[in-house]
Amino acid sequence: MNIQENFDIQPYNTFGIHAIVRYLVSITEMDDFKSLPLFLNNKNLPVFILGGGSNVLFTKDFDGIIIKNELKGKRLINETKKTVTLEIQSGEIWTDLVDFCVEKEWGGIENLVSIPGTMGGASVQNIGAYGAEVAQVIQTVTTINIRTGATKTFSNFECQYGYRKSIFKNLEYKDIFVLNTTITLSKNAVLKTEYGAVKTELEKQQILEPKLSDIRNVIVAIRKEKLPDVKELGSAGSFFKNPVIPIEKARQLQQQYPQIPIYPIDNNTVKLAAGWLIDQCQLRRFRIGDAGVHDKQALVLVNHGNASSNDILQLVEHVQSTVYQKYGVLLTPEAVII
Ligand code: EPU
Repeated sequence: MNIQENFDIQPYNTFGIHAIVRYLVSITEMDDFKSLPLFLNNKNLPVFILGGGSNVLFTKDFDGIIIKNELKGKRLINETKKTVTLEIQSGEIWTDLVDFCVEKEWGGIENLVSIPGTMGGASVQNIGAYGAEVAQVIQTVTTINIRTGATKTFSNFECQYGYRKSIFKNLEYKDIFVLNTTITLSKNAVLKTEYGAVKTELEKQQILEPKLSDIRNVIVAIRKEKLPDVKELGSAGSFFKNPVIPIEKARQLQQQYPQIPIYPIDNNTVKLAAGWLIDQCQLRRFRIGDAGVHDKQALVLVNHGNASSNDILQLVEHVQSTVYQKYGVLLTPEAVII
């Protein structure tokens, strides 16, 4: 177990925010979990488990313990005529896994290419994009309790997946660390091409019979257009969730704003496009200090260079209150704020 004290977490969060963390504990092997409970007990400080740091905003120094997941490895655990099942260690980089699977022509996660973060983060957050969600391929998630060392395997059903949601986000699960996830992919997958931007791009490139690698490439291209490359411009992807609201409220909004995008969820609720709401408030490119609303996708907040966490927090509040005043809809962060 590697422990660093008073560590600047800047390289480990894609927003690129400077914050001093009292202890950074890197987990690279299962044996590390033997010494971890005693360390946590002795220090008696708050703990936060970090994956790829692509969905977190540090707002201040953290007088606590960050556990950095560096568990690597993947293996084929089952193969049939039609499917493969892989066990992926939680510290594996998600988009590298997507590329590996597309190359093998195993389908199911190609729409999720270029999403920053790790397998563990993906399993907790239920990452999604372009008509796909990781929950659609997850079979099981195996976890360990960092204080007791007890392990448990959750079935997909037990993970209680929803839109950017799983049981692991509940407060009672704060000591639960994802060890590995099993996913089942298809050798002749039905490609998901219905999402507006994907369909348009395939038509534009005149790809009539797309292969897995075409879907991957088209989505890489769409994302490059809209979403910042975190190596060049700090961000945590979509900062807010798309709000889920009662259908009656959506109907009222639709009368006033006929263009408003609305996505059905069930008989009582619908999802709005937070990016559209922010955009309609003329907030694209809006800046407070070096913190800004991305010029190509208003749902994404970016660090233009030296944004302080305070700049970002002020920007978050400004976006929330402006959207609320105009539409009566409260945007809640998708990113975890520490
Ligand atoms: N829109 C605007 N202006 C904007 C942004 C969006 O008018 O500045 C409109 C679009 O024209 C479209 C609608 O809003 O009608 C939805 O936009 P988009 O298709 O870009 O998707 P999104 O809802 O903004 C979600 C995910 C993204 C994911 C995309 C593509 C969330 C919070 N975000 O964004 O995920 O890549 O769909 O599937 O669900 C992430 O979670 O970090 C993320 C990037």
